[in-house]
Amino acid sequence: MSDETTSVHAPVEVRIDGLSIAFDESEVLRDIDLVIEPGEFFAFLGPSGSGKSTLLRAIAGFGPKPKGSIRIDGEDVTNLPPYRRNVGMVFQSYALWPHMTVRKNVAFGLEERRLPAGEIHQRVNEALDTVGLLELAERRPSQLSGGQQQRVALARTIVVRPRVLLLDEPLSNLDANLRIQMRHEIKALQRQLGLTTVFVTHDQEEANTMADRMAVLNDKVLQQVGSPIDLYDNPVNLFVADFLGTANVIPGAMDSGIFKVDGGITVPAKNAPPDGKALVFRPQNAVLRPAMAPGLENTERLDGTVKHMEFLGSIIRYTVAVGAHEVLVDEPHQVGTAPVNEGDRVALYINPDQTVVLVA
Ligand SMILES: Nc1ncnc2c1ncn2[C@@H]1O[C@H](COP(=O)(O)OP(=O)(O)OP(=O)(O)O)[C@@H](O)[C@H]1O
Ligand SMILES: [Mg+2]
Repeated sequence: MSDETTSVHAPVEVRIDGLSIAFDESEVLRDIDLVIEPGEFFAFLGPSGSGKSTLLRAIAGFGPKPKGSIRIDGEDVTNLPPYRRNVGMVFQSYALWPHMTVRKNVAFGLEERRLPAGEIHQRVNEALDTVGLLELAERRPSQLSGGQQQRVALARTIVVRPRVLLLDEPLSNLDANLRIQMRHEIKALQRQLGLTTVFVTHDQEEANTMADRMAVLNDKVLQQVGSPIDLYDNPVNLFVADFLGTANVIPGAMDSGIFKVDGGITVPAKNAPPDGKALVFRPQNAVLRPAMAPGLENTERLDGTVKHMEFLGSIIRYTVAVGAHEVLVDEPHQVGTAPVNEGDRVALYINPDQTVVLVA
Protein backbone atom coordinates (compact mmCIF):
# COMPACT_ATOMS: atom_id res chain seq x y z
CA MET A 1 0.00 0.00 0.00
CA SER A 2 1.38 3.36 -0.91
CA ASP A 3 1.47 6.37 1.33
CA GLU A 4 1.03 8.58 -1.64
CA THR A 5 -2.49 7.39 -2.36
CA THR A 6 -3.40 7.56 1.31
CA SER A 7 -2.39 11.06 2.32
CA VAL A 8 -3.19 13.39 -0.51
CA HIS A 9 -5.91 15.45 1.14
CA ALA A 10 -6.75 16.07 4.73
CA PRO A 11 -10.35 14.84 5.18
CA VAL A 12 -12.92 17.49 4.25
CA GLU A 13 -16.36 18.51 5.47
CA VAL A 14 -19.49 18.52 3.31
CA ARG A 15 -22.05 21.12 4.41
CA ILE A 16 -25.54 21.33 2.95
CA ASP A 17 -27.75 24.31 3.81
CA GLY A 18 -31.41 24.79 2.96
CA LEU A 19 -31.18 22.53 -0.09
CA SER A 20 -34.35 22.02 -2.13
CA ILE A 21 -34.47 20.18 -5.45
CA ALA A 22 -37.32 19.94 -7.95
CA PHE A 23 -37.62 18.13 -11.27
CA ASP A 24 -39.64 20.52 -13.43
CA GLU A 25 -42.31 21.64 -10.99
CA SER A 26 -42.23 18.64 -8.75
CA GLU A 27 -40.26 18.99 -5.52
CA VAL A 28 -38.22 15.95 -4.51
CA LEU A 29 -36.17 17.33 -1.60
CA ARG A 30 -37.12 20.19 0.68
CA ASP A 31 -34.93 22.36 2.88
CA ILE A 32 -32.19 19.83 3.66
CA ASP A 33 -29.64 20.91 6.29
CA LEU A 34 -26.81 18.48 6.89
CA VAL A 35 -23.16 18.51 7.91
CA ILE A 36 -21.04 15.49 7.02
CA GLU A 37 -17.90 15.55 9.13
CA PRO A 38 -14.39 15.22 7.70
CA GLY A 39 -13.47 11.55 7.26
CA GLU A 40 -16.94 10.34 8.13
CA PHE A 41 -18.61 7.32 6.50
CA PHE A 42 -22.13 8.63 6.08
CA ALA A 43 -25.22 6.82 4.72
CA PHE A 44 -28.40 8.09 3.07
CA LEU A 45 -31.08 5.57 3.92
CA GLY A 46 -34.71 5.59 2.80
CA PRO A 47 -37.34 3.88 0.71
CA SER A 48 -37.32 3.85 -3.08
CA GLY A 49 -38.06 7.29 -4.52
CA SER A 50 -37.20 9.18 -1.32
CA GLY A 51 -34.51 11.23 -3.08
CA LYS A 52 -31.33 9.47 -1.90
CA SER A 53 -29.70 9.38 -5.34
CA THR A 54 -30.90 12.91 -6.09
CA LEU A 55 -29.17 14.22 -2.95
CA LEU A 56 -25.98 12.27 -3.65
CA ARG A 57 -25.90 13.43 -7.25
CA ALA A 58 -26.40 17.03 -6.12
CA ILE A 59 -23.21 16.78 -4.05
CA ALA A 60 -21.41 15.60 -7.19
CA GLY A 61 -22.98 18.39 -9.27
CA PHE A 62 -25.44 16.36 -11.33
CA GLY A 63 -29.18 16.99 -11.65
CA PRO A 64 -31.33 20.11 -11.62
CA LYS A 65 -29.95 23.31 -10.16
CA PRO A 66 -30.87 23.27 -6.45
CA LYS A 67 -32.00 26.01 -4.11
CA GLY A 68 -29.75 26.46 -1.10
CA SER A 69 -26.05 25.68 -0.94
CA ILE A 70 -23.48 22.88 -0.87
CA ARG A 71 -20.02 23.51 0.53
CA ILE A 72 -17.06 21.15 0.35
CA ASP A 73 -14.17 21.99 2.65
CA GLY A 74 -15.68 25.44 3.11
CA GLU A 75 -15.84 26.13 -0.62
CA ASP A 76 -19.27 26.91 -2.07
CA VAL A 77 -19.58 24.42 -4.96
CA THR A 78 -23.31 24.91 -5.60
CA ASN A 79 -22.75 26.46 -9.00
CA LEU A 80 -19.67 24.49 -10.03
CA PRO A 81 -19.91 21.78 -12.70
CA PRO A 82 -19.08 18.21 -11.57
CA TYR A 83 -15.53 18.19 -12.97
CA ARG A 84 -14.57 21.24 -10.88
CA ARG A 85 -15.72 19.77 -7.56
CA ASN A 86 -13.08 17.08 -7.20
CA VAL A 87 -15.49 14.47 -5.89
CA GLY A 88 -15.50 10.84 -7.02
CA MET A 89 -18.73 9.03 -7.67
CA VAL A 90 -19.30 5.31 -8.14
CA PHE A 91 -22.57 4.73 -9.96
CA GLN A 92 -24.82 1.82 -9.17
CA SER A 93 -24.12 0.17 -12.52
CA TYR A 94 -20.30 0.56 -12.24
CA ALA A 95 -20.30 1.70 -15.89
CA LEU A 96 -16.97 0.03 -16.75
CA TRP A 97 -15.90 0.08 -20.38
CA PRO A 98 -16.16 -3.51 -21.58
CA HIS A 99 -13.63 -3.18 -24.41
CA MET A 100 -10.89 -1.81 -22.15
CA THR A 101 -8.66 -3.72 -19.75
CA VAL A 102 -8.90 -3.12 -16.03
CA ARG A 103 -5.76 -0.99 -16.25
CA LYS A 104 -7.21 1.15 -19.05
CA ASN A 105 -10.49 1.58 -17.19
CA VAL A 106 -8.67 2.84 -14.13
CA ALA A 107 -6.29 5.04 -16.13
CA PHE A 108 -9.04 6.77 -18.09
CA GLY A 109 -9.66 9.67 -15.71
CA LEU A 110 -5.94 10.43 -15.49
CA GLU A 111 -5.49 10.27 -19.25
CA GLU A 112 -8.34 12.72 -19.63
CA ARG A 113 -6.38 15.05 -17.34
CA ARG A 114 -3.36 14.57 -19.59
CA LEU A 115 -0.99 13.47 -16.85
CA PRO A 116 2.46 12.14 -17.89
CA ALA A 117 2.43 8.44 -18.81
CA GLY A 118 4.86 7.48 -16.05
CA GLU A 119 2.74 9.10 -13.37
CA ILE A 120 -0.42 7.52 -14.73
CA HIS A 121 1.22 4.09 -14.66
CA GLN A 122 2.34 4.55 -11.08
CA ARG A 123 -0.95 5.90 -9.80
CA VAL A 124 -2.96 3.18 -11.53
CA ASN A 125 -0.73 0.55 -9.96
CA GLU A 126 -1.23 2.12 -6.55
CA ALA A 127 -4.99 2.25 -6.94
CA LEU A 128 -5.16 -1.36 -8.18
CA ASP A 129 -2.93 -2.44 -5.32
CA THR A 130 -5.19 -0.63 -2.85
CA VAL A 131 -8.20 -2.65 -4.01
CA GLY A 132 -6.18 -5.88 -4.39
CA LEU A 133 -6.47 -6.17 -8.18
CA LEU A 134 -2.96 -5.58 -9.43
CA GLU A 135 -2.66 -9.14 -10.74
CA LEU A 136 -5.81 -8.76 -12.84
CA ALA A 137 -4.83 -5.47 -14.47
CA GLU A 138 -4.72 -6.86 -18.02
CA ARG A 139 -8.15 -8.54 -17.90
CA ARG A 140 -11.35 -7.13 -19.30
CA PRO A 141 -14.40 -6.50 -17.08
CA SER A 142 -16.24 -9.53 -18.54
CA GLN A 143 -13.45 -11.73 -17.17
CA LEU A 144 -14.05 -10.53 -13.60
CA SER A 145 -16.52 -11.48 -10.87
CA GLY A 146 -19.11 -8.95 -9.71
CA GLY A 147 -17.06 -8.08 -6.64
CA GLN A 148 -13.92 -7.59 -8.72
CA GLN A 149 -15.79 -5.30 -11.12
CA GLN A 150 -17.01 -3.35 -8.13
CA ARG A 151 -13.40 -2.93 -6.99
CA VAL A 152 -12.35 -1.72 -10.45
CA ALA A 153 -15.08 0.92 -10.22
CA LEU A 154 -13.70 1.96 -6.82
CA ALA A 155 -10.10 2.04 -8.08
CA ARG A 156 -11.16 4.15 -11.04
CA THR A 157 -12.74 6.65 -8.66
CA ILE A 158 -9.99 6.86 -6.03
CA VAL A 159 -7.18 7.08 -8.60
CA VAL A 160 -8.10 10.71 -9.34
CA ARG A 161 -7.76 11.48 -5.61
CA PRO A 162 -11.18 12.97 -4.98
CA ARG A 163 -11.91 15.04 -1.88
CA VAL A 164 -15.13 13.14 -1.28
CA LEU A 165 -16.20 9.64 -2.29
CA LEU A 166 -19.85 9.16 -3.28
CA LEU A 167 -21.27 5.65 -3.67
CA ASP A 168 -24.78 5.00 -5.01
CA GLU A 169 -25.99 1.57 -3.87
CA PRO A 170 -22.51 0.18 -4.44
CA LEU A 171 -23.35 -3.36 -3.37
CA SER A 172 -26.79 -3.90 -4.84
CA ASN A 173 -25.54 -5.88 -7.86
CA LEU A 174 -23.71 -8.42 -5.73
CA ASP A 175 -24.94 -11.68 -4.24
CA ALA A 176 -25.55 -11.85 -0.50
CA ASN A 177 -22.18 -13.34 0.54
CA LEU A 178 -20.13 -11.02 -1.60
CA ARG A 179 -22.11 -8.06 -0.36
CA ILE A 180 -21.09 -8.83 3.22
CA GLN A 181 -17.44 -9.27 2.22
CA MET A 182 -17.43 -6.02 0.22
CA ARG A 183 -18.97 -4.13 3.15
CA HIS A 184 -15.81 -4.85 5.11
CA GLU A 185 -13.52 -4.11 2.18
CA ILE A 186 -15.09 -0.76 1.34
CA LYS A 187 -15.11 0.27 4.97
CA ALA A 188 -11.44 -0.70 5.39
CA LEU A 189 -10.51 1.18 2.22
CA GLN A 190 -12.40 4.25 3.39
CA ARG A 191 -10.59 4.18 6.74
CA GLN A 192 -7.23 3.71 5.03
CA LEU A 193 -7.80 6.65 2.69
CA GLY A 194 -9.46 8.79 5.38
CA LEU A 195 -11.90 9.90 2.70
CA THR A 196 -15.15 11.58 3.60
CA THR A 197 -17.59 9.09 2.09
CA VAL A 198 -21.32 9.22 1.46
CA PHE A 199 -23.15 6.14 0.35
CA VAL A 200 -26.73 5.47 -0.58
CA THR A 201 -28.59 2.35 0.39
CA HIS A 202 -32.12 1.21 1.03
CA ASP A 203 -30.76 -1.67 3.11
CA GLN A 204 -30.90 -0.91 6.80
CA GLU A 205 -28.39 -3.63 7.70
CA GLU A 206 -25.91 -2.25 5.20
CA ALA A 207 -26.23 1.22 6.68
CA ASN A 208 -25.93 -0.14 10.22
CA THR A 209 -22.78 -2.12 9.53
CA MET A 210 -20.94 0.50 7.47
CA ALA A 211 -22.01 3.97 8.52
CA ASP A 212 -20.63 6.14 11.30
CA ARG A 213 -23.82 8.17 11.01
CA MET A 214 -26.80 8.10 8.71
CA ALA A 215 -29.69 10.22 7.55
CA VAL A 216 -33.12 8.70 7.02
CA LEU A 217 -35.01 10.31 4.14
CA ASN A 218 -38.73 10.19 3.50
CA ASP A 219 -41.41 12.59 2.27
CA LYS A 220 -38.81 14.94 0.77
CA VAL A 221 -37.14 15.68 4.10
CA LEU A 222 -34.47 14.33 6.43
CA GLN A 223 -36.45 12.51 9.08
CA GLN A 224 -33.52 11.98 11.44
CA VAL A 225 -29.72 12.04 11.50
CA GLY A 226 -27.49 10.11 13.90
CA SER A 227 -25.51 6.97 14.58
CA PRO A 228 -27.19 3.69 13.63
CA ILE A 229 -27.66 2.68 17.28
CA ASP A 230 -29.00 6.07 18.29
CA LEU A 231 -31.60 6.07 15.53
CA TYR A 232 -32.63 2.51 16.27
CA ASP A 233 -33.02 3.15 20.01
CA ASN A 234 -34.35 6.70 19.86
CA PRO A 235 -36.40 7.18 16.71
CA VAL A 236 -38.08 10.58 16.54
CA ASN A 237 -41.15 9.37 14.71
CA LEU A 238 -43.03 6.24 13.69
CA PHE A 239 -41.59 6.22 10.19
CA VAL A 240 -38.01 5.98 11.48
CA ALA A 241 -38.99 3.50 14.21
CA ASP A 242 -40.57 1.22 11.65
CA PHE A 243 -38.05 1.69 8.86
CA LEU A 244 -35.12 0.70 11.06
CA GLY A 245 -36.55 -2.61 12.23
CA THR A 246 -39.52 -4.32 13.79
CA ALA A 247 -41.24 -2.14 16.37
CA ASN A 248 -44.24 -2.60 18.62
CA VAL A 249 -46.48 0.43 18.31
CA ILE A 250 -49.27 0.63 20.87
CA PRO A 251 -51.71 3.53 20.55
CA GLY A 252 -52.78 5.43 23.64
CA ALA A 253 -52.40 8.80 25.33
CA MET A 254 -50.29 10.51 27.97
CA ASP A 255 -51.88 11.35 31.31
CA SER A 256 -49.63 13.11 33.86
CA GLY A 257 -46.44 11.21 33.07
CA ILE A 258 -48.16 7.90 32.48
CA PHE A 259 -48.87 6.39 29.07
CA LYS A 260 -52.34 4.85 29.10
CA VAL A 261 -53.61 2.27 26.67
CA ASP A 262 -57.28 1.34 26.55
CA GLY A 263 -57.85 -1.89 28.48
CA GLY A 264 -56.19 -0.55 31.62
CA ILE A 265 -52.56 -0.92 30.54
CA THR A 266 -50.35 1.84 31.91
CA VAL A 267 -46.63 2.48 31.50
CA PRO A 268 -44.71 5.28 33.24
CA ALA A 269 -42.98 7.28 30.52
CA LYS A 270 -40.17 9.68 31.37
CA ASN A 271 -39.48 12.63 29.07
CA ALA A 272 -42.45 11.74 26.88
CA PRO A 273 -44.19 14.53 24.96
CA PRO A 274 -47.53 15.39 26.61
CA ASP A 275 -49.30 14.83 23.27
CA GLY A 276 -47.63 11.42 22.76
CA LYS A 277 -49.92 8.95 20.99
CA ALA A 278 -47.91 5.78 20.61
CA LEU A 279 -45.77 3.65 22.91
CA VAL A 280 -42.94 2.11 20.90
CA PHE A 281 -40.52 -0.64 21.83
CA ARG A 282 -38.51 -3.33 20.06
CA PRO A 283 -39.49 -7.01 20.38
CA GLN A 284 -36.23 -7.80 22.20
CA ASN A 285 -36.92 -5.11 24.80
CA ALA A 286 -39.75 -7.08 26.35
CA VAL A 287 -39.11 -10.14 28.51
CA LEU A 288 -41.61 -12.97 28.44
CA ARG A 289 -42.18 -15.30 31.40
CA PRO A 290 -44.81 -17.86 32.37
CA ALA A 291 -47.61 -16.01 34.19
CA MET A 292 -46.78 -17.59 37.56
CA ALA A 293 -42.98 -17.10 37.37
CA PRO A 294 -41.34 -14.50 39.63
CA GLY A 295 -41.43 -10.97 38.19
CA LEU A 296 -38.60 -8.70 37.12
CA GLU A 297 -37.57 -5.58 38.99
CA ASN A 298 -37.81 -2.08 37.51
CA THR A 299 -40.24 -3.19 34.85
CA GLU A 300 -43.90 -2.86 34.10
CA ARG A 301 -45.84 -6.08 33.88
CA LEU A 302 -48.38 -6.66 31.12
CA ASP A 303 -50.48 -9.84 31.12
CA GLY A 304 -51.28 -11.65 27.93
CA THR A 305 -51.74 -14.90 26.06
CA VAL A 306 -49.36 -16.40 23.50
CA LYS A 307 -51.21 -16.49 20.19
CA HIS A 308 -48.41 -17.59 17.97
CA MET A 309 -44.75 -18.50 18.10
CA GLU A 310 -42.20 -18.57 15.37
CA PHE A 311 -38.81 -20.28 15.62
CA LEU A 312 -36.22 -18.14 13.83
CA GLY A 313 -33.03 -19.95 14.86
CA SER A 314 -31.25 -17.68 17.30
CA ILE A 315 -34.53 -16.25 18.59
CA ILE A 316 -38.14 -17.25 19.07
CA ARG A 317 -40.62 -14.54 18.13
CA TYR A 318 -43.84 -14.64 20.14
CA THR A 319 -47.04 -12.86 19.22
CA VAL A 320 -48.76 -12.10 22.49
CA ALA A 321 -52.32 -10.80 22.84
CA VAL A 322 -52.34 -8.06 25.48
CA GLY A 323 -55.91 -6.78 25.84
CA ALA A 324 -56.96 -5.74 22.37
CA HIS A 325 -53.36 -5.41 21.17
CA GLU A 326 -50.79 -7.77 19.76
CA VAL A 327 -47.22 -7.44 20.97
CA LEU A 328 -44.17 -9.10 19.41
CA VAL A 329 -41.57 -10.40 21.83
CA ASP A 330 -38.23 -11.91 20.87
CA GLU A 331 -36.56 -14.30 23.27
CA PRO A 332 -33.11 -15.76 22.63
CA HIS A 333 -33.41 -19.44 21.84
CA GLN A 334 -31.41 -21.76 24.09
CA VAL A 335 -30.93 -25.43 23.26
CA GLY A 336 -34.08 -27.43 24.03
CA THR A 337 -37.78 -26.75 24.05
CA ALA A 338 -39.28 -23.29 24.56
CA PRO A 339 -40.44 -22.46 28.10
CA VAL A 340 -43.90 -21.31 26.97
CA ASN A 341 -46.28 -22.46 24.27
CA GLU A 342 -49.13 -21.18 22.17
CA GLY A 343 -52.19 -20.64 24.32
CA ASP A 344 -50.21 -20.12 27.55
CA ARG A 345 -50.95 -17.22 29.87
CA VAL A 346 -47.78 -15.15 30.14
CA ALA A 347 -46.41 -12.00 31.73
CA LEU A 348 -44.50 -9.45 29.66
CA TYR A 349 -42.05 -7.21 31.43
CA ILE A 350 -41.00 -3.98 29.80
CA ASN A 351 -38.51 -1.51 31.15
CA PRO A 352 -39.92 2.01 30.65
CA ASP A 353 -36.37 3.17 29.86
CA GLN A 354 -36.43 0.94 26.80
CA THR A 355 -39.59 2.46 25.38
CA VAL A 356 -40.21 5.72 23.57
CA VAL A 357 -43.45 7.65 23.30
CA LEU A 358 -44.00 9.30 19.92
CA VAL A 359 -46.46 11.86 18.67
CA ALA A 360 -46.67 10.52 15.10
N1 LIG B 1 -34.42 12.87 -14.05
C1 LIG B 1 -35.58 12.88 -13.36
N2 LIG B 1 -36.68 13.52 -13.82
C2 LIG B 1 -37.83 13.57 -13.12
N3 LIG B 1 -37.99 13.02 -11.91
C3 LIG B 1 -36.93 12.36 -11.38
C4 LIG B 1 -35.68 12.24 -12.09
N4 LIG B 1 -34.83 11.54 -11.29
C5 LIG B 1 -35.52 11.19 -10.19
N5 LIG B 1 -36.78 11.69 -10.23
C6 LIG B 1 -37.80 11.54 -9.18
O1 LIG B 1 -37.28 12.01 -7.96
C7 LIG B 1 -37.67 11.20 -6.87
C8 LIG B 1 -36.45 10.73 -6.13
O2 LIG B 1 -35.69 9.90 -6.97
P1 LIG B 1 -34.31 9.27 -6.51
O3 LIG B 1 -33.72 8.58 -7.67
O4 LIG B 1 -33.49 10.33 -5.85
O5 LIG B 1 -34.81 8.23 -5.41
P2 LIG B 1 -34.00 7.13 -4.59
O6 LIG B 1 -34.27 7.41 -3.14
O7 LIG B 1 -32.59 7.11 -5.04
O8 LIG B 1 -34.77 5.79 -4.98
P3 LIG B 1 -34.20 4.29 -5.31
O9 LIG B 1 -34.00 3.63 -3.96
O10 LIG B 1 -35.33 3.68 -6.06
O11 LIG B 1 -32.94 4.42 -6.10
C9 LIG B 1 -38.50 10.08 -7.46
O12 LIG B 1 -39.85 10.40 -7.30
C10 LIG B 1 -38.11 10.08 -8.93
O13 LIG B 1 -39.18 9.64 -9.73
MG1 LIG C 1 -31.42 5.71 -6.06
